[in-house]
Amino acid sequence: RTLLHSELAGDQVIVVSNREPYIHEMTSGGIAVRRPASGLVTAVEAVMRACSGTWIAHGSGSADRDVVDRNDRVPVPPANPSYTLRRVWLTKEEEEGYYYGFANEGLWPLCHIAHVRPVFRSGDWDQYVQVNQRFADAVIKEARTDDPVVLVQDYHFALLPRMVREALPKATIITFWHIPWPNPESFGICPWREEILEGLLGSTILGFHTPFHRKNFLETVDRYLETRIESEASTISYGGKLTQVEHYPISIAWPEDAQTDGESAADCRIAIRQELGLGAEHLLGIGVDRLDYTKGIIERFQAVERMLERHPEMIGRFVFVQIAAPSRSSLDEYQNFEARVRNLAQRINRRFEDGSYRPIVLKAQHHDQDELQRYYCAADVCLVTSLHDGMNLVAKEFIAARNDEQGVLILSQFTGAARELHEALIVNPYHIEEGADALYRALSMPRVEQRERMRSMRALVKDFNVYRWAGRMLVDAARLRQRERVMTKIR
Ligand code: F6P
Repeated sequence: RTLLHSELAGDQVIVVSNREPYIHEMTSGGIAVRRPASGLVTAVEAVMRACSGTWIAHGSGSADRDVVDRNDRVPVPPANPSYTLRRVWLTKEEEEGYYYGFANEGLWPLCHIAHVRPVFRSGDWDQYVQVNQRFADAVIKEARTDDPVVLVQDYHFALLPRMVREALPKATIITFWHIPWPNPESFGICPWREEILEGLLGSTILGFHTPFHRKNFLETVDRYLETRIESEASTISYGGKLTQVEHYPISIAWPEDAQTDGESAADCRIAIRQELGLGAEHLLGIGVDRLDYTKGIIERFQAVERMLERHPEMIGRFVFVQIAAPSRSSLDEYQNFEARVRNLAQRINRRFEDGSYRPIVLKAQHHDQDELQRYYCAADVCLVTSLHDGMNLVAKEFIAARNDEQGVLILSQFTGAARELHEALIVNPYHIEEGADALYRALSMPRVEQRERMRSMRALVKDFNVYRWAGRMLVDAARLRQRERVMTKIR
């Protein structure tokens, strides 16, 4: 946090993301504020609380649109405001084309290896361009000086850095791509590949989670644009402007106090088991994801099934709770996925049910952060089995929650987190036997080994926290701006 403050030194900070950190919804009791299920929000919100400024996002819960604030602004967090949330309200057509269409039917499957075919429609692209321009205009309007620090988040805004750069050439634009970047061949099928690359190269800093995604991006630029790439320094010179491309693994804010309303991990362990109708003898596994086909939920259930097949003594003893927040549910792909997840859970439950015992508890609804903390603390094992994932902050949240230094993390090798959390049990989620073995190993792991592994992962997450993530990007941006100034003088 100190690093953040010293780097910003009074600069105006403007964040741009699609997802808003606080969703205002109308309920029978008035306006309720909900936090979305989003790794991006978890991370960036902590940074914004620390440095304040303005967060521009798509207004998704329109409860207060006409009621609370006609200027589209609201101070947040509601209980203790430290920054301003400014909503951009999109039309239904814009939301469909830009968010559901181009971002989530096009770029999302393009960037994740989950074997879902990307769909590209010209109409969606037009909306994507238009919405990027609307958000860029909002940034420009929001800027009090000609050199604000603009933090652009994710694949929804690939064109915005360049749009802002054209209007505010002195701005520091830090863009972070929260999802993987594919290899040049894969990316090349996007009909607007050059426009996307040019848009991103409006950034001062362009960040990815892993060196591998950074390398893929540099190779993609090399393939499709006429640029000068300094591989050593990781900078790209395009149109007389420098962009530094780096990897900055995202993280979370380390919890200052226990986050479970004073409940200790031991209390949570008992309370959650009671809520589930289980006893102290039951072993509990947890999965926390958006209901998304990239998360490996099907493969995870299959691993649970195989583990029970192989170790029948676990039938009646092991229960796996899957918390699955509904996501992008108006898209066919997501509806089909949800149906497959539900059917598989049902089939496995029928197979092993005994009296009130069911091995899989599927909670396909939104849970707030406090509830998630309680589940993390109560679990013997947390399964993160994404088929492909930029980072996956659930893995880091689970670790941060375990101040009792117990619990085992099973982690897919295809997450960015697997590059840092070496003491997790690393698995290939496609290999069901391997997943089943890891699950059994986790459930039988001696407490001393759990402690050693957890202690080491906790030290890493505590140290490489989200403030460091943001601070490093700001330091690099300051260096690059300095280099640009020197180059301008020499010329
Ligand atoms: O972290 C990847 C990400 O796509 C974020 O960009 C996003 O906030 C999150 O997953 C949830 O997705 P959505 O915002 O579409 O609900």
